[in-house]
Amino acid sequence: DILDGTGRILLPGFVDLHTHLREPGREDTETIDTGSAAAALGGYTAVFAMANTDPVADSAVVTDHVWRRGQEVGLVDVHPVGAVTVGLEGRQLAEMGTMAAGVGQVKLFSDDGKCVYDPLMMRRALEYSASLGVLVAQHAEEPRLTVGAVVAHEGPTAARLGLAGWPRAAEESIVARDALLARDAGARVHICHASTAGTVALVEWARTQGISISAEVTPHHLLLDDSRLETYDGINRVNPPLRERSDVEALRRGLADGVIDCVATDHAPHADQDKCCEFSQARPGMLGLETALSIVVETMVRPGLLDWRGVAKVMSERPAQIVGLDDQGRPLEVGEPANVVLVDPDTEWTVRGPDLASIAHNTPYEEMTLPGKVTATVLRGRITARDGAVYPLTGGK
Ligand code: NCD
Ligand code: ZN
Ligand code: ZN
Ligand code: ZN
Repeated sequence: DILDGTGRILLPGFVDLHTHLREPGREDTETIDTGSAAAALGGYTAVFAMANTDPVADSAVVTDHVWRRGQEVGLVDVHPVGAVTVGLEGRQLAEMGTMAAGVGQVKLFSDDGKCVYDPLMMRRALEYSASLGVLVAQHAEEPRLTVGAVVAHEGPTAARLGLAGWPRAAEESIVARDALLARDAGARVHICHASTAGTVALVEWARTQGISISAEVTPHHLLLDDSRLETYDGINRVNPPLRERSDVEALRRGLADGVIDCVATDHAPHADQDKCCEFSQARPGMLGLETALSIVVETMVRPGLLDWRGVAKVMSERPAQIVGLDDQGRPLEVGEPANVVLVDPDTEWTVRGPDLASIAHNTPYEEMTLPGKVTATVLRGRITARDGAVYPLTGGK
């Protein structure tokens, strides 16, 4: 099969460090099949499937299943993220070594789904990760400040609307804590979904101290702000919450300057009945895989904050480096099977939930017209997506 690249931009296949695929446990909202299709259509050749499944991905039984199922589907490499602690309580460290040595070769561990509340536990987790050469992703939330907080979605809009949830201090205090713990443990730490100007400043400060820290930003935090909350529509509920315009601008600048390393989708599917409802009833999370590139074009390329070389860096090269994927996000050798994506930079398209490959069809971008379209994705030389169609190795589950 020949791909015609006329008028297209060729980039290395995208790498998403933060994807929720809901398998095992919530296959009514997403499966490795359907999430892989969304990933291939979005230009991804590798995604990292977060650990807050049911059961939690705290053992090689789960992480190996995730990897194997992804390989069977064959649309994208689905790298399992392991949980740093066992179960939902977070009182005991998980067998990170067993998961790292398994078929799934877990490279990234997350506190997702059960925060590492205890700083000593986090310190031990970081030491353990350093000894294994794997990475701990901090979910960037301080539960004692999140749960039951009165002033939560900070800023004038949220305060006026009376919305509770996740104040900036909950995010920034844990970023500061874990940067310092990583320093003392001689470990690396990755900050999930940075959402405030303060987090950008803290990451920059930590680097000046020689701390090995990396950070991601989501497409929705680059595009949307808290003015969306005015409608009390559950579609806009997400953790961390949509922030003020000044935060959006700081995140864009941080990504342009390289303080924020990469874009990660935090693709978090929820059933329509859990999103298409009033804000306080809705589950937090948004679909992200199929719209990520277009939002990066809209928020970063069009305003001149990133060129296409920069897009390759934040969507592919940096995330691949952060987790040590040696077969993604780098220049190819002659004759090497390619992980690449072709992008039509000029096409604009209108997002329609029912057209998305995910099982859940609710999206905050409904009827929004966005620039830039993935026209083909190639995984190790095989076309996985082309002009809106996907080519899995095995059919739907
Ligand atoms: C995540 C999910 O749905 O798994 N949701 C989200 O809003 N990012 C979990 C979480 O981060 O709380
Ligand atoms: Zn957490
Ligand atoms: Zn999260
Ligand atoms: Zn998440």
